[in-house]
Amino acid sequence: MARYAQIVGWGMYVPSEILTNDDLASVVDTSDDWIRARTGIVERRIAAPKETTATMAIRAAQAALRVANANPTRLDLIIVATATPDYPFPATACLVQDALGATKAGAFDLSAGCTSFVYALAVGSQMIISGAYDQVLVIGAETLSRIVNWTDRNTCVLFGDGAGAVLLQASAVPGGVLSAVLGADGSGGDLLMLPAGGSRHPASAETVAQGLHYVQMNGREIFRFATRVTARATRQALDEADVNLEDISLFISHQANGRIIQSAAKSLKLPPEKVFVNLDRYGNTSSASVPIALCEAIEQDRVKRDDHLVMVGFGAGLTWAAVVVKWGVPLPVPRPPRWTVVWRRARYRWAAVRSYLHRLGRRILSALIGLFVRNNGSG
Ligand code: UT7
Repeated sequence: MARYAQIVGWGMYVPSEILTNDDLASVVDTSDDWIRARTGIVERRIAAPKETTATMAIRAAQAALRVANANPTRLDLIIVATATPDYPFPATACLVQDALGATKAGAFDLSAGCTSFVYALAVGSQMIISGAYDQVLVIGAETLSRIVNWTDRNTCVLFGDGAGAVLLQASAVPGGVLSAVLGADGSGGDLLMLPAGGSRHPASAETVAQGLHYVQMNGREIFRFATRVTARATRQALDEADVNLEDISLFISHQANGRIIQSAAKSLKLPPEKVFVNLDRYGNTSSASVPIALCEAIEQDRVKRDDHLVMVGFGAGLTWAAVVVKWGVPLPVPRPPRWTVVWRRARYRWAAVRSYLHRLGRRILSALIGLFVRNNGSG
């Protein structure tokens, strides 16, 4: 029997602190007019000191599981799409797995620049369509404020923090993720990069002094690349899905620059009502931008059952990707009964206790082994 990967849950989280263009104009040589005119961004969210990519990913994931009324212990796989993980390792997805108490799930991070979420959606849906898994949680989460040079006006005005998540579920109902097109051109890797902190330039006092731990970008080149690939990838994904351009109900692009989105929409001859834009409020949240946009589109009643959506991303790598989704869930989703909310909260508390007990158990065991070895060694 044919299997389909339907999006059955969605959720987002953005930090509460808002940084406006005027705020930025007081720290670097820029202006609200310049930022609005060249990017379309008005404000962005900035993570609080205690917030990280994992904490935001967990909040978005919990919201997605709530919408789907899904049990985290039944998740098969968690993919966190991010360029700003909590650590190089362990994967942020493992931190999410632990916090959710997703005891049977595999977990890994996926890194494809700002395209990571769309890549992850393609990977997650194929895991389901192939029959390997039934439930895959795909999260896009970023804390870009931690890797931005706040004295570089070329980059610091662009980015924001946040997270979005979707729950993919196996279904016999035709639809869901119909096609995916992934692309890469590594020859453009130097156009958008974080030079230090990897094996090429391990973090050192020198790399920090040279500011190599900050995002470096050739904005003009990335702009040209993005306008080229966005419409092309969309057309290819539509061809693969056998869906006509006119049948797209909503075009959800990576929210990097309003001019890039407009250029793609113009090339695809999409009217404004079919193009979703929210970068004015969040800036470029990299891997989180597409799932956050999807959540807000749903909230604004711009998605209906059987609609065809296109989600398209581009970014560091260089990478690009597009997926076509036939929406399968009737909207709005009824609110889950109150007891399920309480039950879920208790479950997350238990996950935290369970994690603590595991760590404690490991510490006690290793102390006992140490004691045993010392006693036998001295004896
Ligand atoms: O997520 C994927 C990664 N990122 C992107 O997709 C970003 C893609 N690129 C862009 O969105 C645009 O290239 C930018 C918004 C980054 C820049 O816009 P632009 O229209 O391409 O500007 P530009 O780089 O050609 O710079 C024009 C001028 C320059 O001054 P001069 O050399 O003409 O005197 C810049 O120094 O604007 C200056 N400039 C600024 N002025 C005020 C650059 N940044 C700022 C700023 N405020 N924040």
